[in-house]
Parts: sequence; C-alpha cells; structure tokens
Amino acid sequence: MESVILKAGRDRPADALLRDQLRERRMSRRDARFVSAGVFAYYRWREWLNKEVPAAKQIRQALELAERYDREPAQFSEEELLSRSVPPWLAQEMEVTAGFVRAIQKPAVLWLRARSGQGPKVAAALGNTEPAGQGWLADCLRYNGNQDLFCSPEFHQGQFELQDISSQAVGWVCSPGPGQTWWDACAGEGGKTLHLSSLMKNQGTIWASDRAEWRLKKLKRRAARAGVFNYRMVSWDGGAKLPTKTRFDGVLVDAPCSGVGTWGRNPHSRWNITPEDIAEMSQIQSNLLRHVAPALKLEGRLVYAVCTLTQRETDDVADAFEREYPDFLACNIEHPYHRGVTARRLRLQPEDKGGNGMFIAVWKRVT
Ligand SMILES: C[S@@+](CC[C@H](N)C(=O)[O-])C[C@H]1O[C@@H](n2cnc3c(N)ncnc32)[C@H](O)[C@@H]1O
Repeated sequence: MESVILKAGRDRPADALLRDQLRERRMSRRDARFVSAGVFAYYRWREWLNKEVPAAKQIRQALELAERYDREPAQFSEEELLSRSVPPWLAQEMEVTAGFVRAIQKPAVLWLRARSGQGPKVAAALGNTEPAGQGWLADCLRYNGNQDLFCSPEFHQGQFELQDISSQAVGWVCSPGPGQTWWDACAGEGGKTLHLSSLMKNQGTIWASDRAEWRLKKLKRRAARAGVFNYRMVSWDGGAKLPTKTRFDGVLVDAPCSGVGTWGRNPHSRWNITPEDIAEMSQIQSNLLRHVAPALKLEGRLVYAVCTLTQRETDDVADAFEREYPDFLACNIEHPYHRGVTARRLRLQPEDKGGNGMFIAVWKRVT
C-alpha cells in the first residue's frame, strides 16, 4: 500500500498503479481487497491524517476513519466534510453540496449490467445481488458479495459487464432502436458500445471510434466475450475529419472530462485534477460536439455525456453548442431513476443511487 501512495502522482494515478501491483504480485483476492481498501481510504481521508507519521500509520488512521464514517456518519459534520474531502477550488467550478461530499466519502458500489432482460437470471446465479429498481433498472445490479466476478462463468459467457449505474443510464437515455445506425464517438474500451448493442438486440450498426488504439483493442476483446457483433471499430482523433461519410440516427459523445463525478470511485483523482484541466477539457468537449454534429441525419439524436458536474464542462458546453447550432433542439430527457420526471439536462448525483456523478444532454437535429 505504502509503495502505491509514495509513487502515485499526477502522471501515475493510484488506481492504475494499484492494478499493476496487484497483477504483478498475484495477491490472493482477500489481500487485494485489503490493499485496495487501504489505498482508497488514504485518498478519501487524506486531509484528516497526521502527515508527520509514516505512510503505513497514516493508512491505518484512514481505515479507522472510514470505519467510523461507515458506523456513524453523523459524527462528521457537513462543514468538516465540505472543507476536507475535496480541494478548495472545486467550489468555484460547481455547487458542492453536503450530499455530494457525503456520497464520495463512502466506498464505491459495485454495479453490474446484465444483458437486456437477463437481470433476474444473473442475480440468481451470482447471489448477493440486488436490482437497482424496476423497468430497465432490473438489469442494473448492485453486487454486495465478495467473489471475484471476473472469474465467474457468467462473466466469461458475457452475461454481464461491470458498469457503473450512471454509465448504464447514458445507454438507457440513448435507447437506440434495433436496426438503427449509431456512432459511439468516444468509445474507449466499449462500455457504452456494448450496452448500445444490447439495447439494439445486436441488430443495426454501431460505429465505435476512439483516438486511443489500445482502448479499441480492449473493446474488441470485450465485444467478443459479450457476443456483440454489430459494430465497426475505427480510429478517430476527434478532429474535423470524420472517420466516415455515414449519417447516423444517433451519435453518443461520451467525452473525456475531469471525472469529478468519479471521485468516490477513484479518490486519488480529486487531488490530481486542476482548474486548468477543466478549462482544457471543456475546449475538447465543445470541439467534439462541433465535429460530430454534421454526421447526424435529420431527426437524429446527439447525446452528450460527461462523468463530471463542473459548470464549464456541463451547462457551459451545452449552452455554447446550442448557440452555435440552432438546427439542434434540446430534447426533454426522462429521468432514468425517477419515473415521470423529465428534464432538459440531467445531472445524476453520486448521492442519488451511489453511482458516479454524470451530466447528460440530448439534442435532435431538426433541419
Ligand atoms: C469517458 S471516456 C469513454 C468511455 C467509454 N465510452 C466507455 O463507456 O467505456 C472518453 C474517451 O475519449 C477519448 N478521447 C480523449 N480525448 C479525445 C479526443 N480529443 N478526441 C477523441 N477521443 C478522445 C479517450 O481515449 C477516452 O477513451
């Protein structure tokens, strides 16, 4: 644990270092869980720790704080949590609420996405698993057990994926129809591509692009395991030159972002990101929207999603897009968790369901 904490920095995120070390040392599942809990607790509770004592002792203090917070959260005042669990600059970038900081101080929930309609079957097979709700949420499962799910036969048979609930909400908001043509423009390792395909019942086509070839390679492996075949993979650097002349029923821009919404899952990140990153990301996000806009058919839907809640990466990007593209009309979005609630822009908060924070906006091309 100490070595991860001592080596981690802006260019070496703790979660990636941890993954590498756990793989290299071939630790037992129990030990790996213990080490990960120590590292994550350290970054969650870092501003409470006595920096004068050795790292190992700080980790023990962090684990004690985590346990106390789990037992008696009310012992930690809002004021204390607001001032210590996030960097001070965050308040200039978004409304930092007590609900948000309370949620990101808890260990992250492990969410699974079962293939469409298979939630109950997967839950019964894995055990210790509960659906997040009814309707589409019946396929979104909260796993409370401690098996290594990557070793389960159900995972190898492609019956489920590990995917955060708010990422699943993005696919659900897209709701592509079977036979349609979609473009997952920032497909990465394919979390959303696989979900779109499942919603399309493997019919129609998804173009999956990313600028990182290594991520697309992972997408290919995941798609094979999940039995997803209705996709075409293509490299795209996010520039004005599009990878195809195809016109789409829908384009998903799951854009690179500061990831503030994932600070519960990845607590090291809160001490790494800077306001300068946010400025840079918002430029990239605006450019991505600008570049993909011409690829939509008339009546086609453009979905913008970012796992962050900062003003500059959410409303400011969406406002700028709407000013520049009056031929795209903002759509009302049905709230993925609250039946009957609609909004023009969605902000999924970590405290809603214990998932990542996520912003989603949808436009329809009208001319
Ligand atoms: C939020 S991640 C996508 C996650 C993915 N959709 C999923 O569900 O697994 C953003 C992706 O955008 C890609 N990216 C970063 N900068 C980019 C750019 N300027 N143009 C295009 N893609 C970019 C990254 O490689 C990354 O895979």
